[in-house]
Amino acid sequence: MTNQFVNVSIVVPTYNEVENISLLLSEIWKNVPKDMEFEVIIVDDNSPDGTWRKAVELLNDDVLVVRRIGFKGLSTAIVDGVVFSAKDYVLVIDADLQHPPEYIKNMVFEASRSDADVVIGSRYVKGGHVEGWSRTRLIISKTATLIAKLFLPSTREIADPMSGFFMVKRKIVIENLTKLNPYGFKILLEILERCNPQKVIEVPYVFKPRRYGKSKLGAKTIIQYIFHVLKLSGWRPFKFALVGLAGVGVNLGILNLIGYLTPLLISEYFMVGSAIAIEASVIFNFILHELWTFRDRRFGNVFTRFALFHVSSAPAILIQYLSSISIKYGLAMNPFIAQLIGILIGFPFNYVFSELGIWKRKSVY
Ligand code: GDD
Ligand code: MN
Repeated sequence: MTNQFVNVSIVVPTYNEVENISLLLSEIWKNVPKDMEFEVIIVDDNSPDGTWRKAVELLNDDVLVVRRIGFKGLSTAIVDGVVFSAKDYVLVIDADLQHPPEYIKNMVFEASRSDADVVIGSRYVKGGHVEGWSRTRLIISKTATLIAKLFLPSTREIADPMSGFFMVKRKIVIENLTKLNPYGFKILLEILERCNPQKVIEVPYVFKPRRYGKSKLGAKTIIQYIFHVLKLSGWRPFKFALVGLAGVGVNLGILNLIGYLTPLLISEYFMVGSAIAIEASVIFNFILHELWTFRDRRFGNVFTRFALFHVSSAPAILIQYLSSISIKYGLAMNPFIAQLIGILIGFPFNYVFSELGIWKRKSVY
């Protein structure tokens, strides 16, 4: 009879988890499906509390302890765990029992049933939640999730892309190993963005308070996270801003040119001259976004995108237009300040609309 379950390497990253490790292992043993083939790989960064020593005491044929010297970092530890693993799936679980091993069974079951590339233990689908978090920590987590969704399309359909409790097919990680940049805490984001999983499912779980010891997630982790997401996005918001800046140059340049060639369009029909300059800059921005900022996201019809980009630019245009009128009727504030206000107010709208509404999907699959 063939086994009904997939086989699994359970990777446990540890740093100063000496009080948790033996309890975790016995919980794992209690909770894996009876006829499942599995191994446990503990990846410890030479913890000062001697977690690795304790883990070695608990060694048996199905446990491997990797003691890394001179390395530190949750994501790199997980990637090394994957490298040492030998089964079809890798299941990543924290050592501190915040990811209760009782959910392993269901995750394995769902992986076996669906053949998904990634199975996420999810706090934010029906049936999942977080126990014992302060309101602040919950807000941080939710905000971080929103940031990921804004910048990384692969996370948009996923309720909990920040989860540290997940299963992934070993093969898709190994095949994309050189593309991975295991930085900070959020290796799942890397996997979703860089390993191109075709099927991702979420299984609810309840994130529990830590059993012993303390969290390694601090202010540094949060700053690392922002950098991580920006890097994963290919620095797209900066590209977008740069194009916008060049667009302002085009706008003003064209306005000057018009004033030089057809002075009437500035003196008598300023609205027309200004509209031409604005449209020129919208076209310029659109072309650069197509060829550079969102080159990998040209999905669907280019004319639809072009039309939508006008909607996207509308707030900035409107403010510029209003400031033009105010200049024309002498109520003026400095046109450059008006321009700047238009840009500052228009930019976030333009960017978010472009990400979520125009270039929202990868063009290659
Ligand atoms: N090897 C190694 N090296 N392990 C580490 C390191 C490191 O530098 N830093 C942390 N770990 C281990 C811890 O020992 C623990 O087993 C696990 O990684 C998670 O670390 P915690 O410090 O407990 O993180 P957390 O509980 O604040 O965050 C967890 O929950 C988040 C969900 O909000 C992690 O699972 C995150 O990945 C997850 O996103
Ligand atoms: Mn924890």
